[in-house]
Amino acid sequence: MSEVLQSVSEEIAQFSIQSKEDLENFRLAFLAKKGKLTALFDEIKNIPPAEKKAYGADVNALKNQAQTKFDTFQEQLTSLEESTLLDELDLTLPNIPHTLGTKHPLSVTRERITKIFERIGFNISEGPEIEDDFHNFTALNFPENHPAREMQDTFFIEKNPDIALRTHTSSVQVRIMESQKPPIRTLSPGRVYRNEAISARAHCMFHQVEGLYIDKNVSFADLKQTLYYFVKELFGKDTKLRFRPSFFPFTEPSAEIDISCHICGGKGCNVCKHSGWVEIGGAGMVDPNVLENCGIDPKTYSGFAFGMGIERITMLKYQINDLRLFTENDIRFLRQFKHVM
Ligand code: PHE
Repeated sequence: MSEVLQSVSEEIAQFSIQSKEDLENFRLAFLAKKGKLTALFDEIKNIPPAEKKAYGADVNALKNQAQTKFDTFQEQLTSLEESTLLDELDLTLPNIPHTLGTKHPLSVTRERITKIFERIGFNISEGPEIEDDFHNFTALNFPENHPAREMQDTFFIEKNPDIALRTHTSSVQVRIMESQKPPIRTLSPGRVYRNEAISARAHCMFHQVEGLYIDKNVSFADLKQTLYYFVKELFGKDTKLRFRPSFFPFTEPSAEIDISCHICGGKGCNVCKHSGWVEIGGAGMVDPNVLENCGIDPKTYSGFAFGMGIERITMLKYQINDLRLFTENDIRFLRQFKHVM
């Protein structure tokens, strides 16, 4: 081995490596593209042909020497690093606490309602929040000049043909009847919109759940029993149910649904305005015109429908007195429902 190569070999042997930084410097000095060994390999073109073979072998030996040293130290440094990390790891430290969020009270109520109806064979259906006039009004038997169509109630997006934010989930009824054959037993929860000033009792966006049951021989007694079962499940077995005659274009006969005030047990309090009863929604037998508009023969089939406000039911159930609380997302309010499942 030539003297030059001999001295490089010594240099490799004596290079002290104590840290990752040293290791990198070693690599740069010998093994990298601009390192010494590359330069020695390049030198081969100036070596007389007879000595080329021996020279090449010597430089290769140097490269192996450097590479072996590099590999050995790299391995040592990595395992050293792992063991110091382990030394620093304190398994007795308390865990970093993470707080779980809570379900929104409206979601809790919606889930409760749908679970109750699912148990008696209702499925869940949804429809678009942006509706055309046919599904929101015309198919539901709204007369041409019905006040609910007027600008003050409905958020119109386009006029002629009318496109609006749906004002009730009854529009989903229509879509289901159009696309399915009876028997139909479905529940449609969802957001609805009405052009109202926001206050403790009214909002321009709220949630409804609509129920629809169509089959042969469905009667008002079925409607009453279904709702009776529902209110007992949701508000407790002592809850009483009362129907008050009412009017909706899409049901005939129609009724307003009241339940006995579960706060005072019917004795009279602020929530029920001392009447002992609170209203939870509307209901009725689907008007034959509506069945016909949706392609169902009213001579063969009959059905009932009901609609309830999810906010209203949540307010009654948890004694919440301001509708705005549902959309303000005040953590102090939402946290109170931590234990409500
Ligand atoms: N769609 C009615 C409303 O929004 C509620 C309702 C639904 C009434 C079904 C009767 C039957 O007020």
